[in-house]
Amino acid sequence: MLELSNISKSFGSARVLDGVNLLIPPGSRTAIVGPSGSGKTTLLRLIAGFERPDSGQIMMRGRALFAGDQFVPAHQRKIGFVPQEGALFPHLRVGENIAWGLSGSRHEKRARVEALMAMVSLDSKLAQRWPHEISGGQQQRVALARALAQQPSLMLLDEPFSALDTGLRVATRKATADLLTQAGVASILVTHDQKEALSFASQIAVIRHGRFAQIGSPFEVYSQPADEETALFLGDALILSADVAQGKARCQLGDIPVDNASISGVRRIMLRPEQISVEPCDSAAGLPQAHIVDIDFVGYLSTLTLAFAHTDEHITVQTVTRPGWLPGMKVNIQINGCARVFAL
Ligand SMILES: Nc1ncnc2c1ncn2[C@@H]1O[C@H](COP(=O)(O)OP(=O)(O)OP(=O)(O)O)[C@@H](O)[C@H]1O
Ligand SMILES: [Mg+2]
Repeated sequence: MLELSNISKSFGSARVLDGVNLLIPPGSRTAIVGPSGSGKTTLLRLIAGFERPDSGQIMMRGRALFAGDQFVPAHQRKIGFVPQEGALFPHLRVGENIAWGLSGSRHEKRARVEALMAMVSLDSKLAQRWPHEISGGQQQRVALARALAQQPSLMLLDEPFSALDTGLRVATRKATADLLTQAGVASILVTHDQKEALSFASQIAVIRHGRFAQIGSPFEVYSQPADEETALFLGDALILSADVAQGKARCQLGDIPVDNASISGVRRIMLRPEQISVEPCDSAAGLPQAHIVDIDFVGYLSTLTLAFAHTDEHITVQTVTRPGWLPGMKVNIQINGCARVFAL
């Protein structure tokens, strides 16, 4: 559907994108995640055609959108773009914003606008309002409806749900994902919300300093992150130093199997919280023992700080809260599955 090869872009002397490659399969959903300033919006603007790469190539369905001297302007790309700040036309009413670029009779346009507003859960009464008379979350949904109206073959979404509260955000994200899938429209979503990325996407691309640190399925990038930074970006993780040999990591938590038997030496390993169970101490169980130093209670989850007898290094583990836990209590730790061992 879309292929970016070796795309670079600088603003002045600052290199914002540095040799980016990305493949977007037809009808797929890609989430781009990465810290602020890492080049996410810039990448979307290059794909949309609002900005020109310094080098590289952008192909869409076998046609060059950018290659050498070739540059297809934004309005000829059939790419929908919902920008980070919504960017509605302030001199047009909500309904006119959505209808912008639609063809057909007035009656047809009005029916189409109503259908689009329903799709993004907007009350059709808002069609007569001016953009400044609706909320930020409503503006984002108008921008989404306006982009959908163009029936694009690729949709670019730059944090389109950021102004919505949690409930509406989940509902709108799900509705948008279903809508795009039904229409067979491939999409690229930029988000800061790691849960949103994992649930929306079929492919996740982790960007850092203008390069992709990792691209893979949500499960892959979550359970086999390329490095520590990526691991922490996608969720809570316990990262430890360990002595790795013959498929096992020796660390404070005992001997844990690792996911890559060919790696050995002193390495960093990672476990996700769901792999770690903390149980009341049973000295007959033969499991590693620790005692609770501190408990940070945040509802159904608690973060435990644990200390071990033979080292003074503490670890923190997020786990489901149990009544009766107290500082000083002895516990056993059980590990499920393999630890991820990072390459150097
Ligand atoms: N037109 C421009 N001129 C100069 N510098 C720019 C321009 N556009 C972006 N930049 C710079 O490029 C870098 C990447 O910006 P970009 O907007 O792509 O980041 P981002 O990943 O979208 O960040 P955020 O998560 O905060 O939206 C930033 O350092 C930014 O200041
Ligand atoms: Mg941005």
